[in-house]
Amino acid sequence: MKFFIDTANLDEIKEANDLGILDGVTTNPSLMAKDGVTGTDSILKRYVDICEIVDGDVSAEVIATDFDGIVREGENLASLHKNIVVKVPMIKDGVKALKYFSDNGIRTNCTLVFSAGQAILAAKAGATYVSPFMGRIDDISWDGVDLIDQMVEIYANYGFETEILAASIRSPLHIVKCAELGADVVTTPLKSIMALLNHPLTDVGLAKFLADYKKGNA
Ligand code: G3P
Repeated sequence: MKFFIDTANLDEIKEANDLGILDGVTTNPSLMAKDGVTGTDSILKRYVDICEIVDGDVSAEVIATDFDGIVREGENLASLHKNIVVKVPMIKDGVKALKYFSDNGIRTNCTLVFSAGQAILAAKAGATYVSPFMGRIDDISWDGVDLIDQMVEIYANYGFETEILAASIRSPLHIVKCAELGADVVTTPLKSIMALLNHPLTDVGLAKFLADYKKGNA
């Protein structure tokens, strides 16, 4: 399973990358705004800065919602760096654009996916990745894990090559559930990656090992 970090913050990206387990980055307009990155030039520069830190795919989201605009913007984003993946929303013109990009060798991430039907459309259109938003499904009292389960089954039934990139991850449990189900990628905030480290018995066990070493080597 690949690990992407879901942020536009360069310090967090560096910290995850330094851990040696990072395979890529996803961003979106909200994450750019949260990090104070505004204006087209600054946003494009931030994508290049991210690509220079991480040796892996970096999703860059289009703002346009019409076919011509999505294509124009997507081609520009893809020209920034070989690792850029164009993030396209799950809307009618987005599906058309996914097909266009797929036919023209530009890799894509179909975002804002909340149902198995949408996931089928994204795969049919040739998306490289599809991003089901687990946490936002949980937020409305549905179960994001169920959607991942459905998608894994459907994609396996037909041999779709689109990779399932589980997004809107809110906890280490989401990551473990995705791994059990066979999601290809999880994109998570840094804190969920770090939370995977924690176990009280590890802390207790390490403290005892160190105390025993100290006793024997006093
Ligand atoms: O990758 C999508 C993600 O950024 C959305 O996460 O926490 O805003 O639902 P969240």
